[in-house]
Amino acid sequence: MPTSSNADYRHLFVGLDVLIPILDGECRCYTSLDNAASTPPMKAVQQAVDDFLVYYSSVHRGTGFKSQLSTHAYEQARNMVMKFIGANANEHTCIFGKNTTEAINKLARRLPFDGRRNIVITSGMEHHSNDLPWRAATQVMHVRLTPDGELDEEDFDIKLNTYGERTALVALTGASNVTGFINPIHRLAEKTHRAGGLFMVDCAQLAPHRKIDMLPLENPAHLDFISISAHKMYAPFGTGALIGRKDIFELGDPDVSGGGTVEIVTLDSVVWTVPPERDEAGSPNTVGAIALAAAINQLEKVGMEEVAQHEADLTRYALERLNQMQGVRVFGDQDPARAEERLGVIPFQLENVPHFLVAAILGYEFGIGVRSGCFCAHPYILHLLGLSNEEAANVRQQMMEGDRSDMPGMIRASFGIYNTYEDVDRLLDALTFINNGNYKGKYTQDKESGEYSPLGWQPDYGRFFRF
Ligand SMILES: Cc1ncc(COP(=O)(O)O)c(C=O)c1O
Repeated sequence: MPTSSNADYRHLFVGLDVLIPILDGECRCYTSLDNAASTPPMKAVQQAVDDFLVYYSSVHRGTGFKSQLSTHAYEQARNMVMKFIGANANEHTCIFGKNTTEAINKLARRLPFDGRRNIVITSGMEHHSNDLPWRAATQVMHVRLTPDGELDEEDFDIKLNTYGERTALVALTGASNVTGFINPIHRLAEKTHRAGGLFMVDCAQLAPHRKIDMLPLENPAHLDFISISAHKMYAPFGTGALIGRKDIFELGDPDVSGGGTVEIVTLDSVVWTVPPERDEAGSPNTVGAIALAAAINQLEKVGMEEVAQHEADLTRYALERLNQMQGVRVFGDQDPARAEERLGVIPFQLENVPHFLVAAILGYEFGIGVRSGCFCAHPYILHLLGLSNEEAANVRQQMMEGDRSDMPGMIRASFGIYNTYEDVDRLLDALTFINNGNYKGKYTQDKESGEYSPLGWQPDYGRFFRF
């Protein structure tokens, strides 16, 4: 185990030491390696929420002290989010919502796609949340990928050349939730702006792991819109945000209307209010916004450079160990030397054990939480696996018939700032066991979901949590 960077941030997190049950009847500490999906809460988040709840009340236009304090805290949280990603209040607005999915859907409904500019350029490496909302709104072009799964910038240039005058928006992920590849967003933004389009980045993965700077609008490399999800940033209280150009949200009708979105309403007319309230219909998730701001505060105290460095060290070590193992196939970039250029998201397969089964054994027998399957990025997974059109059609057919038992997919381990070299060792040791057939349970597969569970064993959830 390397000793160069052995920083330990576990003490900043809630619940890392609680015991969970495993198949042999014992209990052990949970090893969480599914951070690309959701992260555990920070203690600073729990503390801020606790401190705030005693003052919690309605925000906006409440006249009592608690309402005013709640409004103050909510707006302060908004400013902290803006500052964290380099937005400025003159040019940008921060619209709180549920998560990245909601943010992108909102943008897809709020951008005016009429007229000549009605194309959105996205890519084949996107999470469905940065693909399907665009398909529902307008015409979409997908930038091709290299065989390893990186964005093919030559094809990006070709698409922009071909459709530039008709391109309303380029919408790309900042970093992939499958391979951890990081896109050169500022360079691509500059090209997009030269072609007259707007540039949006899905920062669901990037925001917890890298410093983001939207840059002022006068800078040609600026980002026009970004989206973030707090549950991936150690603040699981149901909030996300769409941050972007205020001028766009000053125009048009809000996609969801109701309380808080208006200046004045008569029986036959309505005057919408200004951003961000114009796009935050109904009572907002004040606690969620405060939780997110507290997480940002803590991340800034650690320092985003340190976050990136620590996670790169773990990724390098994990790749080194995976590369030494027989019977493992790592997708995307397998080179430990390039760990700093990507996120700590590692997709892999064991050649002789189905991905669903590997994930089940890791969970049931080793107390390790990973994820397996297609990670809400079906086109990307099919590309990485190199499936032919015919093979992909067969898979689709099988799934339509309710049979996921042979569903293609991978296992994904993804790191957060609190993970340690011991976590990586636990994963790699467990994978070596599984690879050698050394697991204890007898597993059955549910055909419909594809998932495996051990015969004759089920955890007693009520022992660990009940209302
Ligand atoms: C790159 C990316 N975009 C979008 C999403 C959707 O995020 P949410 O589920 O928070 O809406 C995810 C979630 O995994 C993601 O990884």
